[in-house]
Amino acid sequence: MNRLYVASLAMISALAFTGSTARADKKITLGFAQIGAESEWRTANTKSIKEAAESSGIALKFSDAQQKQENQIKAIRSFIAQKVDVIAFSPVVETGWEPVLKEAKAAKIPVILTDRAVSAKDDSLWVAFMGSDFVEEGRRAANWLVDKTKDAPGPINIVELQGTVGSAPAIDRKKGFEEIIKDKPKYKIIRSQTGDFTRAKGKEVMEAFLKAEGKKINVLFAHNDDMAIGAIQAIEEAGMKPGKDILIVSIDGVKGAFEAMMAGKLNVSVECSPLLGPQLMAAVKDLMAGKTLPKRIVTKEGVFPMEVAAKEFPNRKY
Ligand code: AHR
Repeated sequence: MNRLYVASLAMISALAFTGSTARADKKITLGFAQIGAESEWRTANTKSIKEAAESSGIALKFSDAQQKQENQIKAIRSFIAQKVDVIAFSPVVETGWEPVLKEAKAAKIPVILTDRAVSAKDDSLWVAFMGSDFVEEGRRAANWLVDKTKDAPGPINIVELQGTVGSAPAIDRKKGFEEIIKDKPKYKIIRSQTGDFTRAKGKEVMEAFLKAEGKKINVLFAHNDDMAIGAIQAIEEAGMKPGKDILIVSIDGVKGAFEAMMAGKLNVSVECSPLLGPQLMAAVKDLMAGKTLPKRIVTKEGVFPMEVAAKEFPNRKY
């Protein structure tokens, strides 16, 4: 009797073990709807996500929306139809996501927002949002400028290259920057226009700024490094010295910006890390293991002025 009991217990536990191993062996599938490849930052972000999925054993379905919201929505719908385990995406703009997020919720597929937030009343439509604090990045950019120019007489005329219209980083970086300078009348934003986060647009819009304002421009605040790098070219072509005649403040901290800083052409880059892959894969695994994720996971970042660029460059990972 006793031996029979022990044997059946062993059988039950062996079955249970096999069952749970089989479940653990089932590959998790993640659908990721990327914005596009508009910047050095975005390329590094894609690489981080693909590499982390591979090394975590997560099957990744990746889609590139070429900076179009309609393509991102299509990709998310196709992930729902394919019954992926988790959906993650970096929303190109803040608004217009409710219908597709409701569809994901109805299909019981959890959604993680990475890098950029959405603006929607019902925050149960996503389980977590991981990424930078863009308002803080705007504040950091302005604080650097205020400190750098504290002894300079006014006015300090600033031109601003904004990111993609309606995107969280464009809205928030502008907000944070303006919050710091609003009670300091010597700082004036004399022109502000979108450069869509790309080098080509950054150059084109800076050319227009230079044509309209010429030597009146003291500072360029670019919402990302790529636009700043494009603008540097425009400034040089106009016969001026970027980094000297015009102070250049930008955001991201990509290698291209470090090279520009080492060449004395860009004054500071506020860090915004694209290396979200490992954090995302850990979150996906936690979710699948039944854990609750923190609703907001903020990336830790620094500020890199040109004076530290050469020393920091070898440590840069993107
Ligand atoms: O959302 C992050 C922003 O998007 C980065 O600053 C920019 O370079 C990218 O395209």
